Amino acid sequence: MCGIVGYVGPKKAAPILLDGLRRLEYRGYDSAGLAVHDGREIEVVRAAGKLENLASALEQRPLGGSTGLGHTRWATHGRPSEQNAHPHAAGDVAVVHNGIIENYLELKHELQASGVRFASDTDTEIVAHLIHRALEQGAPTLFVAMRQALGRVRGAYALAAISRREPDRLVIAKNASPLVVGVGEGETLCGSDIPALLGSTRNMLFLEDGEMAELTAGGVRIETVEGKPVERAPKRIDWSAVQAEKGGYKHFMLKEIFEQPRAVEDTLRGRINLDEGDVVEAELGLDAQAARTIERVVLVACGTSHHASLVGRYWIEQLARVPAHTELASEVRYREPVFGPKDLVVAVSQSGETADTLAAVKAAREGGARVLAIANVLGSAIPRASQGSLYTHAGPEIGVASTKCFTTQLVALLLLAVHLGRRRGTLDAERGREILQAMLELPNEMRWTLARKAEIHQVARHWHNAPHMLFLGRGLGYPIALEGALKLKEISYAHAEGYAAGEMKHGPIALIDENMPVVVVMPRDRQYEKTLSNLQEVRARDGQVIAVVTEGDAEAKKLAQWVLELPKMPELTQPVAAVIPLQLLAYYIADLKGTDVDQPRNLAKTVTVE
Ligand code: G6P
Repeated sequence: MCGIVGYVGPKKAAPILLDGLRRLEYRGYDSAGLAVHDGREIEVVRAAGKLENLASALEQRPLGGSTGLGHTRWATHGRPSEQNAHPHAAGDVAVVHNGIIENYLELKHELQASGVRFASDTDTEIVAHLIHRALEQGAPTLFVAMRQALGRVRGAYALAAISRREPDRLVIAKNASPLVVGVGEGETLCGSDIPALLGSTRNMLFLEDGEMAELTAGGVRIETVEGKPVERAPKRIDWSAVQAEKGGYKHFMLKEIFEQPRAVEDTLRGRINLDEGDVVEAELGLDAQAARTIERVVLVACGTSHHASLVGRYWIEQLARVPAHTELASEVRYREPVFGPKDLVVAVSQSGETADTLAAVKAAREGGARVLAIANVLGSAIPRASQGSLYTHAGPEIGVASTKCFTTQLVALLLLAVHLGRRRGTLDAERGREILQAMLELPNEMRWTLARKAEIHQVARHWHNAPHMLFLGRGLGYPIALEGALKLKEISYAHAEGYAAGEMKHGPIALIDENMPVVVVMPRDRQYEKTLSNLQEVRARDGQVIAVVTEGDAEAKKLAQWVLELPKMPELTQPVAAVIPLQLLAYYIADLKGTDVDQPRNLAKTVTVE
């Protein structure tokens, strides 16, 4: 999520590190910092906000050495600030980190009990202290100390560290977050992404999960965390700088669609307790007493986040047995809505800054409601204005049309529904465990769905000139149909409408003829038979059906002209996978039409005006 760059070689490190960070700027970040070994000491310079702030801080305090680390932070633990910016130092060690340390609270308490004082609110600082402690307790080198620290840490990480005692080397480690090594002429670099290194070299090798490496000016030595040597030759990367930013994908949106399994994993990380069938979430601030007093849940949001809320509403009602409503933030704020202390208002927003949603939050607080934010940007306005928050750990989303933020919002909402259900006594541990287990299977089910991109591309090729498209769904499939239509209109500019399949007879059926493509979201669920009847009604009027179905659905295959398959999976979690074919369909259609996919006309990523 954040950006890492590291350098060891004969040149001055600071300008190279800053250049690397500039090449990662497109990803978005909230603070940045460098740590450089000047031959005697490690000096750290950090700044909140843009890289210019770091650059001016470096003018005040130039860093002289030729071994160092740089980092741009996208906050996940601890608000964006200079104090929380990386690198984090402890004793002789400085560390930068991407990812999430799952057991950070447990480790923090343990370190605090042994007298460690923390200078930040981050999970990363724990790693710096663990490495420092290992060195104090006799680890002979930074490499060995890093290995010992990793033995204590659970979670996702790309880590890079330097030590005052070993001025000529970096030590790095990887698990579930990317880490690349650049092998230059008499210099070696590391980075979280290829673009960070392109200013120095195109010879790169990729670390695998469970590996660590020692980087010196002369090259790189890789071992597994268990200590087995690894031989790997660098590859030459021929991507242009722009291709590299997009990870080799044509557009950010496509990259973000394919990142969804990882984004969902990160959003679940550290939040599931399978033994108790429960959700571990301190930031929510909703204890059993508070959860039981809630008499109504109101979800407020705009755009794609509103569609996530519509799914959330089903889940909350089903699992927590409390009435749940959804409101468009732009409507509720002008309606003189009635909120009270027995309401839980859930504000869903990827940016955390949408003006209408923020205004609705304020109205809810004025009415005495308890407000909880689901947002992707830590420390943004909506979580700040709320009493509790549940962050989606999707990482920066650059494509204006939201994809990975949507699926991680769904995951956050289902976590919330389980949390409420367990505290209200409407969900027992066994059913809780079943649902959480189903959530853990989501990343693989999403990968399964993404792997069928060729079939989706075929449908797009056939229909990319269609001026209209209708999307139908029932139950949990209804908000997904709405989201599919929104994606298509946002980026391809085709007119698309999402409708509840049961409402088709009350209007849209008049539109259907042989020129009308109709996408029917109909995975195997309790509404399946009824949606199948709607499909038949469309076919009877010569409508062209693209059905999103569960694999092996022979019935749908007989009736629909095109079939896009989802894996067999539990009904409750289906929406998270079911949206993927629709995201890809919209993407491929827009790409075939040649629109500006990542920045569609007239749209903005963050809407801070009414
Ligand atoms: C804009 C974005 C959409 C987003 C909506 C709500 O229109 O382009 O992708 O769904 O705002 O934004 P929020 O940040 O509150 O989720």
